[in-house]
Amino acid sequence: MPTPTPILVTGGAGFIGSHTVVELLGAGHAVVVLDNFANSKPSVLERMRRLAGRDFTFVEGDAHDAACLAALFQHHPITAVLHFAGLKAVGESTQVPLAYYQHNVAGTLNLLEAMRGAGCRNLVFSSSATVYGDPAQVPIREDFPRSAANPYGRSKTMVEDICRDLALSEPGWHIALLRYFNPVGAHPTGLLGEDPASIPNNLMPYLLKVAAGQHPFLEVFGQDYATPDGTGVRDYLHVVDLAQGHVAALNALPRLDGAVPINLGTGRGCSVLEMIQAMEKAVGRPIPWRFAPRRPGDIAIYYADPALAREILGWEASRDLETMCRDGWTWAQSEAAGA
Ligand code: NAD
Ligand code: UFG
Repeated sequence: MPTPTPILVTGGAGFIGSHTVVELLGAGHAVVVLDNFANSKPSVLERMRRLAGRDFTFVEGDAHDAACLAALFQHHPITAVLHFAGLKAVGESTQVPLAYYQHNVAGTLNLLEAMRGAGCRNLVFSSSATVYGDPAQVPIREDFPRSAANPYGRSKTMVEDICRDLALSEPGWHIALLRYFNPVGAHPTGLLGEDPASIPNNLMPYLLKVAAGQHPFLEVFGQDYATPDGTGVRDYLHVVDLAQGHVAALNALPRLDGAVPINLGTGRGCSVLEMIQAMEKAVGRPIPWRFAPRRPGDIAIYYADPALAREILGWEASRDLETMCRDGWTWAQSEAAGA
């Protein structure tokens, strides 16, 4: 069998990237991971190798640095790029917007230039459901208007537009703009998961810290939203499903004409109270929580219409909320045990 040509995965040591690399290796792809460990640890690489039972090339470097990228494309015959690297904290983006535009927008321009220079025109980009802002209705379809409400979201919108313009300007580009909803959970083995450097802002990682006794209680932000139980509703998606969505997107690239936005979500909404209940079941005991005021900027309800992903990628999420909580809890316990 011929050796497969390598896929470049920027940010491949991170939460979503690490799970995706394991799935790519499992599907027979050769992989080059580029990461600068800005938000991950070198120890994850060995775990990824162990889980995949196969090796991959690792390059420590900045995915937005033109010289680093030029050298990388020169040394490896890369045929496609999965671009995860970037900054992703909504709150932080309002404090240091220039850093977000510099990294996420200017950095991605460098990557696109390097790809163009090397004749590599296949890209899977990590966009976000945050580009929709507060939608007029749910479920959210890809043709809904975009109105991101913060610099992080606008940086994703800008990159989507840049990709679209590029693909319109010359033939041969195949770009999947994957709009993730709320990725949660972890690898079922407990070897990979989300490892926030500071106190987590997102629901699932915070809930896991409370369940593990590292925080006294969860604050439920808002109880009077126009949702069935008054708390915020989101489309939580197991990170392994999301990783498999990337393999499906990579395989579908030749069929994509230009830059195509695609939602990756389950199509099911889940409230904060439902998430607490599911986590209590996984953990086997009550988790302390109390109501708190609404978090500024929060949206009441959003979840995906996942039909396009099914149609174009032949992909749909298969793991339920119980599995997301169980695998998240396995990960939290193995982290606490220092695995
Ligand atoms: P993460 O922070 O866990 O992973 C990002 C990885 O990229 C880290 O390993 C980090 O060290 C690396 N990195 C950052 N800047 C880099 C640079 N300049 N050069 C090389 N490596 C760099 O984040 P994640 O949750 O895995 O998210 C991956 C992508 O998906 C991001 O672009 C994010 O905006 C997007 N996304 C994430 C979510 C989510 O809820 N996790 C939702 C929607 C979209
Ligand atoms: N929530 C709480 N308490 C907490 C944390 C969150 O009640 O301690 C609630 C929020 O108010 C919201 C829900 O839980 O109703 C989910 O909040 P998250 O912070 O987990 O997720 P968001 O949907 O607000 O935002 C996340 C990422 C964004 C990304 C977006 C869409 O933070 O970067 O999903 O993908 F853009």
